[in-house]
Amino acid sequence: MERLVIHGGKRLSGTVKISGAKNAVLPVIAATLLGQDKATCLEDVPNLDDVRTISEVLKTLGVKVNHDLAKKELTVDASNIENVTAPYDLVRKMRASFLIMGPLLARHGEAKISLPGGCAIGTRPIDLHLKGFAALGAKIDIGHGDISAVAPNGLKGARIYLDFPSVGATENILMAASMADGQTIIENPAQEPEIVDLANYLNIMGAKIRGAGTNVIKIEGVNKLIAHDYTIIPDRIEAGTYMIAAAMTRGDVYIANAISEHLKPVIAKLKESGVNVVEDVDGIRVSCDRRPRAVDIKTLPYPGFPTDMQAQFMAMLTISEGTSMVTETVFENRFMHVDELRRMGAKIKIDGRTSVVDGQEKLTGCQVKATDLRAGAAIVLAGLVAEGETQIGYIHHIDRGYDNLVQKLVSLGADIKRVDN
Ligand code: UD1
Repeated sequence: MERLVIHGGKRLSGTVKISGAKNAVLPVIAATLLGQDKATCLEDVPNLDDVRTISEVLKTLGVKVNHDLAKKELTVDASNIENVTAPYDLVRKMRASFLIMGPLLARHGEAKISLPGGCAIGTRPIDLHLKGFAALGAKIDIGHGDISAVAPNGLKGARIYLDFPSVGATENILMAASMADGQTIIENPAQEPEIVDLANYLNIMGAKIRGAGTNVIKIEGVNKLIAHDYTIIPDRIEAGTYMIAAAMTRGDVYIANAISEHLKPVIAKLKESGVNVVEDVDGIRVSCDRRPRAVDIKTLPYPGFPTDMQAQFMAMLTISEGTSMVTETVFENRFMHVDELRRMGAKIKIDGRTSVVDGQEKLTGCQVKATDLRAGAAIVLAGLVAEGETQIGYIHHIDRGYDNLVQKLVSLGADIKRVDN
């Protein structure tokens, strides 16, 4: 089994370039299913297992996909879709596979997908996606582990209120509604930068979407969307992870290609903790020459503190001065990193959705495992500062979402390698 082996204690310095965003590229790849007439070339596509999984899902539909890793370009030719069923073995690997349902329904009037899998960070229902499709006139049928949706006469625009601003549901409804008959209004949609990115991409293909990034999105359905090339936005969660790596190792790192506008709550909390953060148009410089101070964080939908940064920030709090409270409001089971951090000497108590972190002077290296993607990132960060050797197993979780993690960290001076035995 492959593992990461880290010898902690190295100060990180230099420049790291942020890759295209995992959570932006997955919906955009799903949206390529809507583009007709020619092939689409997506640029700045990260080298991630999740990208490979969604590419495989598209291939099972008869779509031609080619990822040129050297050029970071993914070409998708969806002029011909032969099949509207996504198989279980792919969908169970990655919940975001469910994002193909909106485009398939819009373009073909039918889709059949296994109930999704993904990281075990909560029950993660898909009721809001389905309510949205039903409001647009699709008939939904759940049975034998599959969800079928059909709209033989096409989708019809509707007013949809989301009980929770779900990122995936907003994206799926956005894609479905872009080719529905008439106007759709999504109230209380997710406002994440990845939603804006998807809307921008759909609009370039000919969609008529206004208000993405605000609390009401209006979509005027169009008959046809034409394939168009597109460049993916930088990954704010990858950027945030390197920002914390710089702070924890008392380093000095320039995070090139990071968009500070997308990272406001992370930057605010790092500054509150005494970390130096300097933003410019091309990136963010993070440096720290002392132990960070304890701060409280509470995850919320965008523009609140991102749940995808909670585990990494907690890793920093385990070595900060004082006691911090970390409250997770987005997912109900997102403290799986706590047990692993405790193995490394962290003092953390969990009370429901809140963890109380009592910052320690040091962590100690040991054998740990990545329990999900961001939990894996958190223990890598802990390993960078832990005394001695940290060995991390189950790293396939980390490969889902960090492009060239080992190479990037090594280039900043970390002692980390991948071993296979
Ligand atoms: C996306 C991100 C993920 C991030 C999450 C929240 C991608 C590929 N993944 O996941 O990295 O952690 O946003 O920022 O972009 N919910 C329902 N019903 C639904 C859908 C969601 O109750 O139909 C609940 C979920 O259980 C969860 C909350 O809403 O508690 C947030 O989920 P959602 O925003 O949908 O996350 P994802 O789109 O799955």
